[in-house]
Amino acid sequence: MPFEISACRPEELPALLDLADRVFRSRRSGAMEKEYPLLFHPDNLEQLRVIRAQGRPVSHVGVCLREGVILGCRMGVASIGSVATAPDYRGGGMASALMEDARRHSLERGVSLMLISGGRGLYHRLGYVPAGRFASLVAPAGTAPMTSGQPRPCAAGDILTVVGFHQREPVRYIRSLDDWRRLLNAGNLMNHPADLWIIEDGGVPVGYVATQQPSSGPGPRSPVRAYEFAGARRAVAEALPTLAAHYGAEEIEIVTQPDDAALLAEARRRDWRIGARGFPGTLGIIDGPAFFAALHPYLEERWGRDLGGLELEPLPEGAIFRRAGAEYRLETRGLLTTLVFGGDVETARALPPPPAPVAEALRAAFPMPLLWYGYNYV
Ligand SMILES: CC(C)(COP(=O)(O)OP(=O)(O)OC[C@H]1O[C@@H](n2cnc3c(N)ncnc32)[C@H](O)[C@@H]1OP(=O)(O)O)[C@@H](O)C(=O)NCCC(=O)NCCS
Repeated sequence: MPFEISACRPEELPALLDLADRVFRSRRSGAMEKEYPLLFHPDNLEQLRVIRAQGRPVSHVGVCLREGVILGCRMGVASIGSVATAPDYRGGGMASALMEDARRHSLERGVSLMLISGGRGLYHRLGYVPAGRFASLVAPAGTAPMTSGQPRPCAAGDILTVVGFHQREPVRYIRSLDDWRRLLNAGNLMNHPADLWIIEDGGVPVGYVATQQPSSGPGPRSPVRAYEFAGARRAVAEALPTLAAHYGAEEIEIVTQPDDAALLAEARRRDWRIGARGFPGTLGIIDGPAFFAALHPYLEERWGRDLGGLELEPLPEGAIFRRAGAEYRLETRGLLTTLVFGGDVETARALPPPPAPVAEALRAAFPMPLLWYGYNYV
């Protein structure tokens, strides 16, 4: 059944927030509007896609349009969150229709990569996959050496210092200063209340770490999660055990890119647990031509100025790779996204083996790093 889909109107925002709070905050405290200040800001109404019944929003898909940088390649990214249908209206196809609308809406606004903070059948059926690879490092609580890796709470005057460290990271969302202010004011990191720490070495800031506050209450404390950081890896590594101790937790987990050799070396030196983890949701390349155009500098550096003789023909959903008379067709968004970002996922095992000349080129470029949400989680 076709639904009428449109942006949330200003006067409907309270009803939409009420729907989001009833669906996502009925069993825990919090208010979605405060926790997700980029998504539910009045300047983002055009991206809050709704279906109405009896004059009010009953189903919603929230879109946050930003840009991301992956190893120097800048691309439009849509982050999807707060996907909710009022209980009485579930199972009627509303969320599916809104997800398709969100894809078209994002596409028209220059987005090539869509990240969804969930992994339901709803998303899988539409071709999104849990691709992407990250490294998880777990450190025991402890104390930092006297001068380096000392964490202190971030103060209002530190904001440009934090922005500067973030700007130097090779894989990140682009955040305007307004975004930073809203996000830090909200104090929410990937669906949890959070703290931001400046890491100092000899009294000089060299990085930052954002930590989710562990849940309070009886029972053993959950490990602290450092779900965003930037700056000097050694100092960050030295600060982590102190941060775990600060929260009374036994351990702290930090997530980084799998090729963050410097932080991984620190972890190995300290005998920390090192594991692989996936993207916390599903994703898809929704505009192949725009995505590969954005990737051109990266591919040129990996394949040479003539792209190693590899021709790439983006298809509406997948892509065809041709080299030395051999052809490799990936017909679906899921397969293409998995080829590009990798991951220990079912679609990776479903990838057909490429013919040798194509395989050689693909191996030199993919899998490549994927954005981690950090503060941009919605
Ligand atoms: C997930 C959710 C948004 C789906 O909304 P919807 O409008 O019912 O979605 P659709 O009708 O397009 O169909 C998709 C879902 O309906 C389910 N469904 C089918 N028939 C149904 C029925 N009679 N009653 C309830 N659900 C039914 C499907 O199993 C499918 O769920 P899946 O993702 O688990 O495969 C809704 O169930 C919801 O608000 N859930 C709570 C919040 C939530 O989990 N959001 C997603 C965060 S990732």
